[in-house]
Amino acid sequence: MRRVLVAGNWKMHKVPSEARVWLAELKRLLPPLDSEAAVLPAFPILPVAKEVLGGSQVAYGAQDVSAHREGAYTGEVSARMLKDLGCRYAIVGHSERRRYHGETDALVAEKAKRLLEEGITPILCVGEPLEVRERGEAVPYTLNQLLESLRGVEPPAPEALVVAYEPVWAIGTGKNATPSDAEAMHRALRQALSERYGAGFGERVRILYGGSVNPKNFADLLSQPNVDGGLVGGASLELESFLALLRIA
Ligand code: 13P
Repeated sequence: MRRVLVAGNWKMHKVPSEARVWLAELKRLLPPLDSEAAVLPAFPILPVAKEVLGGSQVAYGAQDVSAHREGAYTGEVSARMLKDLGCRYAIVGHSERRRYHGETDALVAEKAKRLLEEGITPILCVGEPLEVRERGEAVPYTLNQLLESLRGVEPPAPEALVVAYEPVWAIGTGKNATPSDAEAMHRALRQALSERYGAGFGERVRILYGGSVNPKNFADLLSQPNVDGGLVGGASLELESFLALLRIA
């Protein structure tokens, strides 16, 4: 009942002209899908995504959004702009933004609110750094991050929110959480979401795993009952591996 989502976070890769060719090829080679596919490119690529993917089975979205609605905020991109470009999703709280741009849980919550106001689904990222896992505190740390990043955030339906568990030590490192570690965290996250928004919500909200997902490890991760898809960095950049992930899902 939860539709698997495979979302490619392109991070700061590809320029618009490369993306145009890539996305057109994706559309041409796309297998019939039971699951949902989405690409999350950098802002300047979103108009290309709209042009190439508009009306197709592949959704697209952004990697970030401003916490402000509109105004004198040089360099920022509003949720309304993303809506106008046809974005279904936007990532908030990615660990790279938390780490390199000092984003706090409170800021992430504001960003999620702006997205929901425009009917865009936030993909809220949470996950612990290595030292926290080594101290044995991964679950309480990540649950706290989840609940703080959702403070005052009221999704109108479970489909209006996606959570992504991305252990920081697994991102871009080739190390990934074992399927059973991922499952234990996802179960705890779902429980916390049930307590926060009600049992029906917790049952239906999708929780993705992210961190060195590739075509070799994806099936085992997806076989876990509480893993509803992947938020994929490196392996989403090559068409062949992205297609392989979609075939697995
Ligand atoms: P990698 O798949 O490259 O580890 O990146 C994961 C990620 O950060 C997705 O948001």
